[in-house]
Formats: sequence, C-alpha cells, structure tokens
Amino acid sequence: MTYQNYSLKQLQQIDAAHHLHPFTDHKELREAGSRIITRADGPFIYDADGTEILDGMAGLWCVNVGYGRNELAEAAYAQMKELPYYNSFFKCSTPTPVLLSKKLAELAPKQVGQVFYGSSGSEANDTALRLVRHYWALEGKPEKNRIISRKMGYHGSTVAGTSLGGMEPMHKQLGGAVPNIVHVMMPYAYELALPGESDHDFGLRAAKAVEDAILEAGADKVAAFIGEPVMGAGGVKIPPLSYWPEVQRICRKYDVLLMLDEVITGYGRTGEWFAAQTFGIEPDTITTAKALTSGYQPLSALLVGDRISRTLVEKGGEFYHGYTYSGHPVACAVALKNLEIIEREGLVERVRNDTGPYFAQALQERIAGHNLVGEVRSIGLMGAIEIVKDKATKERYLPSGSAAVVVRDHAIAQGMMLRATGDTMILSPPLIWTRETVDMACDRIARALDLAEADLRKR
Ligand SMILES: Cc1ncc(COP(=O)(O)O)c(C=O)c1O
Repeated sequence: MTYQNYSLKQLQQIDAAHHLHPFTDHKELREAGSRIITRADGPFIYDADGTEILDGMAGLWCVNVGYGRNELAEAAYAQMKELPYYNSFFKCSTPTPVLLSKKLAELAPKQVGQVFYGSSGSEANDTALRLVRHYWALEGKPEKNRIISRKMGYHGSTVAGTSLGGMEPMHKQLGGAVPNIVHVMMPYAYELALPGESDHDFGLRAAKAVEDAILEAGADKVAAFIGEPVMGAGGVKIPPLSYWPEVQRICRKYDVLLMLDEVITGYGRTGEWFAAQTFGIEPDTITTAKALTSGYQPLSALLVGDRISRTLVEKGGEFYHGYTYSGHPVACAVALKNLEIIEREGLVERVRNDTGPYFAQALQERIAGHNLVGEVRSIGLMGAIEIVKDKATKERYLPSGSAAVVVRDHAIAQGMMLRATGDTMILSPPLIWTRETVDMACDRIARALDLAEADLRKR
C-alpha cells in the first residue's frame, strides 16, 4: 500500500502515534501536527495538499543539485542490481568507494588524500575524534588528547558529536560528555565585537581564544582544534577573514591538528569545493556529508590529511573503528554521479561568480533595510537574517527566539521554506538557484517580514 491511500489527516495521525521526530518538542508537535512533504522538483518542495514551497534550505543544507534528478535514482538502481551491499571490513572493498575516494582526493585540498566513510555527519565526527586521538597515541603522545571546539558549534547529535559541539541545551541532556573537550568563543562579530573593534581585529581576538585554551591546558595536552568554517546550525556565523589563517598559524605553532567540519560547507556551498579553499587553510581532517550525495543517499566522508594517514600506515596496528555501512556501494555510486553533475553544470563556479554575489547583493538591497532586520550576511549560497526589535540598539524580541519563528511561519505561508535558529533566519538553498530564484525568494521573504512585523508590533 502506498501513502496515496491515506488522507493527509490520516498520515498526520499515524505520524503523531508512532514517529518520534529529531530535535522536536513532542508535546508541541502533537498539538500542531506535522507538515507532510510528499514530493519535490528542482528548487521546489510540495506538501500533501499540493502547496508549492521554494526550498530555501536545500532540505537540511544538503540537496545541492536540487530535487528530481533521475540520474541519481538511476545510479542507485544500477548499483543495487549489480551489488546492493558488501562491506569494506576484512580487507575487502567494492568499486564505488574506491573510485569515490580517488575523486575526493582530486577535489580536496592537496594535503588531503584519504577517505573514511560513514552514513552521517555525526558518525564522521565520531571517526574524526577517535582518529586524531589514535594518531597522537601512535606518535607516542597519548596524553595529547584534548580537543578545542567552539561555543555554539554544531558537530552532530551522537554522544561524540554533542560533546564536540557547543550547544548548552544539548550538553545538559547528555548528562556527561566525552571528556577532554573544551569550548572557546565563536567568531561572531555582530554580537561579540567590542565597540569600535574592526572586523579584522575581532577575528584575531577570537582566534586568540584558541591560543589561550592551548596555553591553559599545555600544548602537549592538546590534540586538535575543530570548527565549522562557517558556523551553520549556530546561525550562519561567518568569521572575519583574519580568523582562520590566524587559527591555523596558532595550531601550527603548538603542533595542534586542525579539523574542519565541512558537513554544511563542503561541495560548493561557499563557492569552492571546500570552504578550506575559500578561507585559504590546510586542515588535517575535513568532515563532509550532506551534499556529497545531495542528500539522495545517507553518506559521510571524513577526508584525512596525509600527515595522519602516513602515521596510520607507517606505525600500523588496527584502528578499532568502522561502521557496517562504511563505503556503502549504493551511496558511493550516488555520490559519484552527484559530483559529476556538480562539475558538469559548473555549480561551484556559478555560486562563486554569479549567484553567490547576486544573493549577497539582493539580501543587502532588498532585506537589510527592513525594520525587523539587524543584519544580513552571506557567503556563497549561505545566508542569515538577524531579527531585531530595534535596529540601532540590536535589542531582540523576548522571549529569545520567538520572533524568528513568527517570520518563519509567515515565510512558509508565503511559499518560502526558511529555518529559524534563535533570533536568526537561515538560508542555504540548492546550488541550482538562479538570479530569478534569488529574486523570487527575496519577494517572499520581504512579504513575510512585513506580515511578521505587523504581528510582532502588536505584542
Ligand atoms: C557542521 C555539522 N556537522 C555535523 C552535522 C551532523 O550531521 P548528521 O546530521 O548527518 O549526523 C551537521 C548537521 O547538520 C552539521 O551541520
């Protein structure tokens, strides 16, 4: 029986009865009912009523080539018929992860040549955490195991991902994080820069927090620093250009590995294949997932720098880690085809040279001036809109986070899917957006802001 045999109401009832959703207040969901998305095409998603919604989030930061790509379905189908599954344990391999690893080594920054697969970004970060600690143990420095991360960073929802991330409400529910992870300030100038402090100086000060944490622990105790090049779930927080090169300089000075979490930024989002290239840095690990398959299959790839992989090979000894679905042949077949599409259609260059700059300009010209907007910012096709009560003082509506939800709900009613995190509206559309799609999005967002303002001013 297919879902078409059920009415929308029935699907919602069954959903409420049996399905626990991620990151959800289940009491609230029961009251409101879920929005059921049944199909999608190009940049649009459609709900069970047939309502068309422009997807400003590429699903969950992942559908970079847009929806309805038959080529990806065909790649999965062909692979499933030939070999649906075999593992890569016990000295076995299958062809698609082999070829995908070669392709990723070609696309990645030059010092990164090996790949470890999982099914999600969280799993890849678990791998990364274990791998860097294993690396230092192999190097004869097992006590060099502390990881420095950032407040408000998001690195996934497994125990290790939650511990690496800097989300306090998640830590509270965890009831005991993975030990030896510390969190330093984030590079978020809008709220944290001092009066009169330039962006450049703020970037250096935020990087200095990493150095302070290293010195506090002692460099011989610090394994690595991990960060998202642009903090995503924390609110598309784009660091000043001075930040990453300075963090890299500090990591090198104290022989601390640099781990980038590019689960969102990987595969074109910032106008380069990887944001490491956008910011001109050379990390030792790059966590990727999401857009690797444009979300058509669950797959993550931890890209591992030569420094680490050389030690693994030279010192030997089993790394006791891996997943049943590491290097899943179907997921890897889809990833190969997805990367082919991104290359063939020049989507990365398009974001860098055309749609990215146009998106930035459109947000500035059409959204930034709105009474509810404190700041807009973007990099490539990733943007944020800060919702404020007072533009001049940056005062927010209370309770915190409540105003952005009002904007979001109006946006969806206007046919525009946006996400609200805290007081920030987030955009991360498919890379197939054109200038016309950007214009359409701005029209809908501007209308949603007007409607939200009318509601909020009544409070
Ligand atoms: C930067 C970052 N790292 C890790 C993750 C976790 O990925 P997943 O949800 O696939 O486990 C996410 C998910 O949004 C993310 O944004």
